[in-house]
Amino acid sequence: MAVYQATTSAPVNIAVIKYWGKRDTKLILPTNSSLSVTLDQDHLRSTTTSRADPSFEKDRLWLNGEEEEIKEGGRLATCIKEMKGLRREFEEKNPSEPKLSSYFVHISSRNNFPTAAGLASSAAGFAALVSSLAALYKLPASASELSRIARQGSGSACRSLFGGYVAWEQGSKPDGSDSFAVEIAPQSHWPDMHALICVVSDDKKGTSSTSGMQRTVETSPLLQHRIKEVVPARMAAISKAILAKDFDTFAEITMQDSNQFHAVALDTYPPIFYMNDVSRAIVAVITEYNRIAKEKTGHLKAAYTYDAGPNAVIYTPKENVKEIIELIVKYFPQANTFSDPFGLFGAQGVGAGAVPEGFNTAVAKAFPAGSVKGLIHTKVGDGPRVLDASEALLGPDGLPK
Ligand code: DP6
Repeated sequence: MAVYQATTSAPVNIAVIKYWGKRDTKLILPTNSSLSVTLDQDHLRSTTTSRADPSFEKDRLWLNGEEEEIKEGGRLATCIKEMKGLRREFEEKNPSEPKLSSYFVHISSRNNFPTAAGLASSAAGFAALVSSLAALYKLPASASELSRIARQGSGSACRSLFGGYVAWEQGSKPDGSDSFAVEIAPQSHWPDMHALICVVSDDKKGTSSTSGMQRTVETSPLLQHRIKEVVPARMAAISKAILAKDFDTFAEITMQDSNQFHAVALDTYPPIFYMNDVSRAIVAVITEYNRIAKEKTGHLKAAYTYDAGPNAVIYTPKENVKEIIELIVKYFPQANTFSDPFGLFGAQGVGAGAVPEGFNTAVAKAFPAGSVKGLIHTKVGDGPRVLDASEALLGPDGLPK
């Protein structure tokens, strides 16, 4: 008997112009456009296998081996329903195709990074879900069309349907048909963009993006200024900077937009704090690092950005990564060994590291070991990949392996 199954993987993306605020909470339509860099799936990815079978009794989904409830009318159910709808249209046009849209599906998904690290796992997860169903259903849909469905799982997920540099156009139609992701430039246009993720220790449960941004929409006057006056100009300027590979402009806008997102969080009532003392110390270190670079070369070397949590993501051209890791490790001694996927350090590992000449070490104090609990070095990467059957996450019985 035929087995209808497909496995895909999808990347994480980290925004440089932040999405924060919905004008429609059910359709997940944003109050402003946003823009992100897709990170390399060789390091961070969500892998998903989807299978349709006439013997299945209901739609089921497992995340990292644990079954998740698919709540009626919830985000997972919406994405699955929308994908079945596209398959149905396809079957109507191609009557000889098997009627997969009438079968229930089993879906098994895994992240290769800890969900608890607070690394935008929902973006990669929903992008992988949608792309695996698209592969299973052999849909002719474009990445932008699929992004419209992933958007309804988690807003930021729509940007993970593309590699490289990606904008989510907010659109203006009430039905959301013009709110989807588009590619600004592929990975190959500017492959030298590296990212260092500083995973910051956090013992408190933060405010979720979904509830936090809703409270911001309801209470922050600063958000209205951001939406109208700030983001449109920044979207245009950073797109231009990406096309011109102008790192100075890219970095300046990235840092300013992260700052404004966290200012808008503070302007929310009651206020929301995502960055902590360690996050702020990383800002101080990168600011001083850039001051020295600018003085010596006239150019910036790094850009920090923070999402709805204390982790820092530092974008930088590859040539600076080693120096930045040494600097970070000086202030935030590591309890774990750095995995060094690009082989920057050789056998002896990350050394004590000299600070650049003229660097004012008093900009931050040294923190106890483990304050930054891990460093992940990655780079700009490609969009969802269709994987070989040997990588499937469902066994012959249709249950997670
Ligand atoms: C700070 O996409 O997680 O990371 O649409 O409610 O699922 P929902 O929110 P989500 O919000 C991400 C917010 C952000 C900024 C960004 O990625 O643009």
